[in-house]
Amino acid sequence: MKNDLIVTIFGSTGDLTARKLLPALAKLYKQKTITQNVKVICLGRRDYDTETYLNEMQKLTSKSLDLPHLSKFVEYFKMQITDLTDYQKLNTYIRSISNEHSKHIYYLAIGPEILADVAKNISESKLIEFNNTNQVLVFEKPFGHNLESAVKVNQMLWNYFDEKQIYRIDHYLGKEMIQNLMTLRFANRIFEDTWDSKSIESVKIFVKEEEGILNRAGYYDTSGALKDMVQSHLLQILSLVAMDPPNLYESDYIKDEKVKVIRSLNIDKKSVLFGQYKGYLEELNIPKDSKTETFVYFRVFVNTPRFRGVPFEILTGKKLSQKESYVEISYHKTSEQEKWNLPLHSNKLRILINPKGAVDLSINSKMPGLKDNLEVVHLNFTTTPSVEGNIPEAYEKLLLDIVEGSRTLFTRWDEIEASWHFIDEIKKCPHSLFVYESEHELMEKIN
Ligand SMILES: NC(=O)c1ccc[n+]([C@@H]2O[C@H](COP(=O)([O-])OP(=O)(O)OC[C@H]3O[C@@H](n4cnc5c(N)ncnc54)[C@H](OP(=O)(O)O)[C@@H]3O)[C@@H](O)[C@H]2O)c1
Repeated sequence: MKNDLIVTIFGSTGDLTARKLLPALAKLYKQKTITQNVKVICLGRRDYDTETYLNEMQKLTSKSLDLPHLSKFVEYFKMQITDLTDYQKLNTYIRSISNEHSKHIYYLAIGPEILADVAKNISESKLIEFNNTNQVLVFEKPFGHNLESAVKVNQMLWNYFDEKQIYRIDHYLGKEMIQNLMTLRFANRIFEDTWDSKSIESVKIFVKEEEGILNRAGYYDTSGALKDMVQSHLLQILSLVAMDPPNLYESDYIKDEKVKVIRSLNIDKKSVLFGQYKGYLEELNIPKDSKTETFVYFRVFVNTPRFRGVPFEILTGKKLSQKESYVEISYHKTSEQEKWNLPLHSNKLRILINPKGAVDLSINSKMPGLKDNLEVVHLNFTTTPSVEGNIPEAYEKLLLDIVEGSRTLFTRWDEIEASWHFIDEIKKCPHSLFVYESEHELMEKIN
């Protein structure tokens, strides 16, 4: 049978495939959001058949895989993905199950060390032909480890593929509240008309994690919080919060505005704080003299007419008090608040991204009763539990967008380039490494 959609996963025996890709594909298939005429080819060098493969994948994740559905469209295909000679049989197989209109997604769930070899093999074996947007390549961060290496990876990819064929995944952009940021800003006059330095005093973008590095020592110690979190997720959130409205709600227009923000960042050099949680050096496979940061904080200014002079506080770290990600917008007090000299709070708009989506606006109000007492009250909405059960995982949304050719939630090269410029600048700021035992200690150092 010929398939309309063929997803080929390179590195299909890994964590990403087991925990994210297979569950997302199973759900999209079960809900008939993608064609039922789909084949997912899982490439690996291990000696499995499809049934053994799926059972092995189940062992890699604590959640239950939907094996009845997966076994309908998944097929394990044994080959060595770094060896070009093995691609001939793959190509022959894929041609035998596709038609001229089939969409082909080649998902590289592999580390950066074999990315160049695999990309070259995909091109040389003609699995992807230049400019054919029915044949696309998907890969995950890390997009290099500094500007220089990112440029190299990108130039390598552009040798073989057109930018329109490349999908760079930052899974944070698939989260509901991140997608909602533009709607909140641009589809609500009360926010859009006050979204500038005249009304906004400061902005916080905080992404806190409670856990340590778990079993990611090898990767994490070469990366650290700045590259792992700030270069991708936090700068992406910052650009969505600070950008000017795009002329059209279309991928390239949106990215043009996001890039302008990242290019106009001015770091407050004195504010930079790097931290490492106590016990990091005792984690398995971490060198005893590691200087890798597990916490970063800094203040940055967005040098655009809209936000000039407004400090953006950026914070991310591991082993903090709780898992929580949010954007908090603090508004200036009104001139009456200043004149009356009452203990009135400034309005705050908090957009909670993780662990659940919520929006909370705090306002001042008179307490009901005979006295003139005041209180802060909250206007809020939360994604309710019944809705939450139906909220798609980030990877479902991202995979569906790739199938449909929608590029808004994927990172364009110039966004990555501008981000690395900025990250390299932060690294040059003088900073020491503060060893912390609690979030409280860090907050005291910041304030
Ligand atoms: N896991 C996540 O949640 C996550 C999140 C964001 C980004 N990413 C990125 O996604 C990529 C994959 O992550 P992962 O966590 O799935 O990694 P992983 O668990 O280490 O899996 C890597 C996969 O690549 C294969 N592989 C490694 N070296 C190979 C070689 N020389 N020849 C053939 N196959 C080889 C492995 O095959 P074997 O099983 O045979 O060794 C395995 O299937 C990485 O770039 C990672 O940074 C992952």
